Amino acid sequence: MTTSRPLPPPPAPAPDTAPPPEAVAPLVRGIAVLRRLTDTDGTAALGDLERATGLARSTVDRVVATLARMGYVRLDGRDVVLAPRLMELGNAYLAALRLPALLAGHADALADALDESVSLAVADGDGIRFLHQATRRRALSLSFRIGDLLPAERTAPGPLLAGEWSAEDWHRWHRRRAADPGDRAFPAVPPRSRTLSGPAFETAVERARADGWALDDQLIEPGLVALSVPVRGADGRIACVASVVSHTSRHSADSLRTILLPPLRSAVAAMERTLATAPPAEPADRPSGLAGWTGASKQELGREFVESLARGLTVVTAFGEGRPELTLTAVAEATGLARATARRALITLAHLGYVTPHGRGFRLTPRVLALGFPPLSRTTVTRIARPHLAALGRSVQDSTALAVLTGDEVQYTARSTTGRIMDVDIAVGSRLPAYATSTGRVLLAALPPGERAARLGPAARDPLTARTVTRPADLAAVLDRTRADGFALVDEELEAGLRSLAVPLHDRHGTVLAAINITLHSSRRTPAQCVTDLLPALRATATAIEADLHIASRFARVPLL
Ligand code: PHB
Repeated sequence: MTTSRPLPPPPAPAPDTAPPPEAVAPLVRGIAVLRRLTDTDGTAALGDLERATGLARSTVDRVVATLARMGYVRLDGRDVVLAPRLMELGNAYLAALRLPALLAGHADALADALDESVSLAVADGDGIRFLHQATRRRALSLSFRIGDLLPAERTAPGPLLAGEWSAEDWHRWHRRRAADPGDRAFPAVPPRSRTLSGPAFETAVERARADGWALDDQLIEPGLVALSVPVRGADGRIACVASVVSHTSRHSADSLRTILLPPLRSAVAAMERTLATAPPAEPADRPSGLAGWTGASKQELGREFVESLARGLTVVTAFGEGRPELTLTAVAEATGLARATARRALITLAHLGYVTPHGRGFRLTPRVLALGFPPLSRTTVTRIARPHLAALGRSVQDSTALAVLTGDEVQYTARSTTGRIMDVDIAVGSRLPAYATSTGRVLLAALPPGERAARLGPAARDPLTARTVTRPADLAAVLDRTRADGFALVDEELEAGLRSLAVPLHDRHGTVLAAINITLHSSRRTPAQCVTDLLPALRATATAIEADLHIASRFARVPLL
């Protein structure tokens, strides 16, 4: 062990600094609402937002209306719910940082090789914040979410990252420990039970500095153990920390170190090589024309639209891949905002800790992930689709559903009904033969020909009605046509009196992963009317779901269910 460097004593607590006079008050309020929604796991009643933020109800209403217009939240009765689109803020930070794009593959490969969860975390003030999680599905595993903030002293990455703390960072840590003995500022962790004394953490920091690794032996909660190694950038400083996380039923802290330290170290060496050799990021194009959009929204919504909030949040999206550091001029250009407007937004975001001055410009900080990322990063395709299917169902007044292919059947994972007496009744979880359903046809049509044939088999299928297409050659022709058309219309082939229209849903890479449909009684519309009246709305819904899905899955894994 190296000789201990004396650590500075805790100073007297400093009062919270008041916002600078240029701060944009509506932006401060909007962020307060987003933070509360994040801490309440993505859903809060309007009344709760009012109480928790101390804002007047009319202010909460206007903030929520503005965030809803931006696609960042939606209203569900009296509840406000975070929407996937909000992840574009965290995505801007993660893309600008580049570490997930460069290192996630290494972390995922290590998790597969060890069959244990692996995470990447960075320092955020006196806490650690997760950038990436390669998790295992196990009963005995508590895993944190991308964007979760943990107190440094209760984690394995903490002592490694605290080795780079300044005197000011240590002051802040002592102040926080004294002011918040229960770790209430960290909603992702259970309250502190065992008190780790200040000197014990300082000792752990010194040991981590000497060893080049650190352990968490159930500091967060009983059973949870973790081993961490720093990943250094080309400049020699810690870029992030890689951790292997396990449970005492599989590993003690001791066996983690003896068995898993070597593979963790070689994975980290590979990560460091990637960082050292990565070519510079290509700057992505920025959509401009924001000023026009906010202006139009203001025209339409009037007092209910708080333009300065929308503009302030959009400043965050000016950053991104190849754009980690932007000057005021670059932010103004990318957003289309007036310089004075962009400047006040940056000052406000800097005051709140979401951007930090760097070089001649500004950078985003990991705190941006606190704007909704943890609850939103745990979403599924089904959950993303649900509100869109409900909106479509309300607009066309017929039932809608989402289905995936399993074997030669489709399984319905989400649906919305009209409440009409003669409603089509297909329960979530139920399965139907793919060859005779519109969703099944769309999903079969998307398969490579060989796989399609393998799933359907060589024999003719059962006729379910007088109209069911059953002969393999006929089905193949129908599926080719479906593929070319980009939709399937199944007319009374599953059940007499039932028509159904489906289109595919694609992931970020263009692969079809599910299908959505509208199902109706044949008396409601002719087949031709299904296409003219329903297909445009169905396609628009698919596009909206895909847009959400592509944002949500940029840095987080989004499973179907
Ligand atoms: C995690 O990735 O979930 C994790 C990492 C380090 C810890 C605890 C949990 O100390």
